[in-house]
Amino acid sequence: MGGEGAAENSSGELLSKAMLLGRAMLKRSILLVAIAILFAFQLVRGAAAVELDAETRTVPLNDDGDTIVLSLEQITTGRREFNTACASCHLAGVTRTNPNIDLSPEALELATPPLDNLAALVDYIKDPTSYDGAFDISEVHPATKSSDIFPKMRNLSEDDLEAIAGHILLQPKVNSSRWAGGKAFY
Ligand code: HEC
Repeated sequence: MGGEGAAENSSGELLSKAMLLGRAMLKRSILLVAIAILFAFQLVRGAAAVELDAETRTVPLNDDGDTIVLSLEQITTGRREFNTACASCHLAGVTRTNPNIDLSPEALELATPPLDNLAALVDYIKDPTSYDGAFDISEVHPATKSSDIFPKMRNLSEDDLEAIAGHILLQPKVNSSRWAGGKAFY
């Protein structure tokens, strides 16, 4: 009888120890989950560029001096489509096969016609010309006009083109030390 009681007792103790341990582990895993959620939230915030204020998101719209505030959706789309269609040659704003003609604000500004605004860049992606504006390069440079040669250009909508242009104009503002080898400034 006495032996049974002792066994009951120690199993009761064991149970309460196990419960304490369980509770401690639960607390710890809640803490870990909370930290993970916080961390993920920070990552998403960074990726979606939520912290970019309207002033940072403002880029030149045309050569009349009008400007446009890029939406967060345009920024996300612009990054994605640029990476898909352009980054193989223009990673981080450089031009792999012609380093002199990169995507820095400086080079864009000095092109003919100047490419330092959204409308001009959209035109360029449709129908690109040589740096001096003298001849059509759509057979050697990706263009929606020549999407028969450049399949990646086939499914880009007008909105996508504007978003890509926005990406090129925004990067030097948010990433100036890396874009086009750090040559960029506004
Ligand atoms: C196969 C490589 C390649 C790809 C892909 C490519 N480019 Fe280019 N890009 C070039 C080269 C080379 C030049 C220089 C052209 C010249 O000689 O005028 C250039 C020039 C440019 C310029 C002119 C830069 C300046 O300073 O005047 C812009 C703008 C541009 N590309 C945008 C784009 C965009 C947007 C995409 C994606 C839709 C893209 N490029 C895809 C190779 C590429």
